[in-house]
Amino acid sequence: MFLGVFALAVTGAAETGYEAWLRYAPVDSLSERRYQALPSSAVALGDSLVVRTAQAELVRGVRGMLGRTLRAEGALPRESAIVLGTFAAVKAAAPALALPTNLKQDSFLLEAVVLDGFPCLLITAPNDRGVLYGVFALLSKIARHETVAGLNEVQQPYAPIRWVNQWDNLDGSIERGYAGRSIFFENGSVRADLARARDYARLLASIGINGCTINNVNANPRILEDSFLPQLARVAEAFRSWGVALSIAVDLSSPKVIGGLGTFDPLDAQVGAWWRVKADEIYQRIPDFGGFVIKADSEGRSGPSAYGRTHADAASVIARALKHHGGVVFYRAFVYNHHLDWRDPKNDRAKAAYDNFHPLDGEFEDNAIVQIKHGPIDFQVREPVSPLFGAFERTNQAIELQITQEYTGQQRHLCFLPPLWKEVLDFDLKAGGGRTPVKELVAGRSFHRPTGGFVGVANVGMDANWLGHPLAMANLYGFGRLAWDPNLSAGAIAEEWTRLTFGNDATVVRTITAMQLASWPIYESYTGPLGAGTLTNILGSHYGPGIESSERNGWGQWHRADHEGIGMDRTVATGTGFAAQYAAPLARLYESAKSTPDDLLLFFHHVPYTDVLHTGKTVIQHIYDSHYEGAERAEGLVRQWTSLKGRVDEERYAAVLAQLNYQAGHAIVWRDAICNWFFRTSGIADARGRVGHHPHRIEAENMQLDGYSPFEVSPWETASGGKGIECVGEKPSCQAMFRFNRPAGWYELDVQYFDQNNGESKYRLFVGMQQVDEWVADDHLPATRPGGDSSTRRRVTGLALRPGDEIRIQGSPDGAEHAPLDYIEIHRWPPE
Ligand code: GCU
Repeated sequence: MFLGVFALAVTGAAETGYEAWLRYAPVDSLSERRYQALPSSAVALGDSLVVRTAQAELVRGVRGMLGRTLRAEGALPRESAIVLGTFAAVKAAAPALALPTNLKQDSFLLEAVVLDGFPCLLITAPNDRGVLYGVFALLSKIARHETVAGLNEVQQPYAPIRWVNQWDNLDGSIERGYAGRSIFFENGSVRADLARARDYARLLASIGINGCTINNVNANPRILEDSFLPQLARVAEAFRSWGVALSIAVDLSSPKVIGGLGTFDPLDAQVGAWWRVKADEIYQRIPDFGGFVIKADSEGRSGPSAYGRTHADAASVIARALKHHGGVVFYRAFVYNHHLDWRDPKNDRAKAAYDNFHPLDGEFEDNAIVQIKHGPIDFQVREPVSPLFGAFERTNQAIELQITQEYTGQQRHLCFLPPLWKEVLDFDLKAGGGRTPVKELVAGRSFHRPTGGFVGVANVGMDANWLGHPLAMANLYGFGRLAWDPNLSAGAIAEEWTRLTFGNDATVVRTITAMQLASWPIYESYTGPLGAGTLTNILGSHYGPGIESSERNGWGQWHRADHEGIGMDRTVATGTGFAAQYAAPLARLYESAKSTPDDLLLFFHHVPYTDVLHTGKTVIQHIYDSHYEGAERAEGLVRQWTSLKGRVDEERYAAVLAQLNYQAGHAIVWRDAICNWFFRTSGIADARGRVGHHPHRIEAENMQLDGYSPFEVSPWETASGGKGIECVGEKPSCQAMFRFNRPAGWYELDVQYFDQNNGESKYRLFVGMQQVDEWVADDHLPATRPGGDSSTRRRVTGLALRPGDEIRIQGSPDGAEHAPLDYIEIHRWPPE
């Protein structure tokens, strides 16, 4: 009886995901007993804005979860209380209390103490931000139904830098953002309403993130114009109570472009003076300003090379302008030549960051931080760890991780990234002859650097649930948690996030945690095999398959697949020599195909398709098998999710289900594109006979067409049979039909069609004269043409079909979208 009532309470309230992991949902009455002894007042000592915010948050959280409104007090009452304050404020109020002396900034202490004879829960920290973090930690425990009695817990951040970058443009668009428009900018200015920015800062603070860069690394110089500064000050104000420092990305040519100087040469005295004056102006308005991020000499951005200067010269002139204000400059190591000659087998984009930066070790100011992407290429689903982390002993560094899923499914595919990040952070680069996991290097621990840490490219947007996919917020959460403590396991993070986001039902927690943990391997297995660079449409959306798009161009993400073999030879002996950028033991490991782990084989070696992996499979059979298994496992995610029906609220249940269904269909598009391309290229058949054989698939171009005409899809592998049909004549609609010739029974029917973002075609499906479904192609996939980015499916389940039935689809084009179709596939239903 009780359980029934509780289940109703959980599923009753529709949720958009806006509250993310800070839902403060009521705890059930059984667990609530655990918190009966919680004091009735929340005391904020001192007059800090952040501590007062912490107090208000505590009241809000306790009211939401326990239904009690704590009394907000400003001094120690003569009763039991939850007491918040910095060490200094607590010392002033309770001089006899012993407090730790050696805690880092942003650390906190949660301790059951006795004050004036009353049992109290003390939340204290060296600085006010730490107090806020302590409150969030306490609320998280309650939300996860953990006990808070007798606490004595110290938490310290692993590194001082725990920032996010947003790639928002001033016009309100977001580069590689998949969740709507910018929460900061609109039409060239900062938004009038910054409520979302405030709420974002709260989310960030709750996971220990202390800085946010709000604009695109491809920075518009206008951000530094005088007229922009008051607007930036408004964003800083929105962040301030949550202890999040505002920072901006700046263009190195600003002194010239908006400053009116004849040069932006970093060694020119006028340029140095310009940056100093600019920094002074900013700090006058925003005293807690965080600093600047710089992308220079990269992908067409201006840089110090224009004057024959180094990146250290460029970083230093800006670092010096920020130094006495306490600001930092992040200088991105993502520097490479995107006009590389692909014909030269020695050329290698992977070598660029190390080659450009390692000679500069020791030449950066102490408040400059080199920001390094986790791999040597660009956020691919599988890359080795960037060797540059191991090359700095006298330079601060930060790791750049990508929360926004640019190459990992753009928040349409489930891909929980903490397991990937953990592999990177735990990887021992053996720098300087010692044990140096990446997490220790970037935190500045290995070589005793003054600062360093973690930067995540987040790109939240105006969509209600911030990142588009309700389950994708686990990546933002996971980034914050790993930046705070990289020793947490990915499993622990997934479980925490699930409890906070979906509640504590054991089945829900177990199922979602398992789905999250499986999702990166699943995505990898139906997209990119064995570390073979990108097979994604690299020249456009970075989303669907486009295998040859990375070849024969200057972008340098080549996989070198031809009819004999695949892979980039990056060995010293016969290849580009990239392997030599690692410390000797690792260089040796990667130099030989025998010792290179299978999942990086094709990153380091060019091998024949018949090469045998450590698993005993040939490379080509691995490609086929992993893509088939991956697509099946993507379908499995749908089944796992549907097992939760009734256990999570309807709104998020339906939203996630729609995404997972789409993903399962798109995984087949990926599978077929890659398998067919490698089959045609290698000429080697799939030992299990699947590739190229789709017994229950009817190609649209083979149907009986009325008004529809066949067309070639480019690249060919992104449509089944390389062709689709489109409705381009005068008629308002076209038809394609065929006769069903299998035994009578229940079936499900998948209509594979192309949903472009430049039209909303309508489709109607008939069995005989009966219309059994209709829909509008109104998704917003990143494509204006039929192909792997726009290919999607409509699944119609539970159809009673008889031999001889005419199955007919009617498509009505709209705008530039010509009701395109690829195929129909029919399976027994329910699936065996
Ligand atoms: C990727 C991404 C770009 C981005 C760049 C960067 O290449 O596609 O949009 O600007 O990374 O990190 O600078």
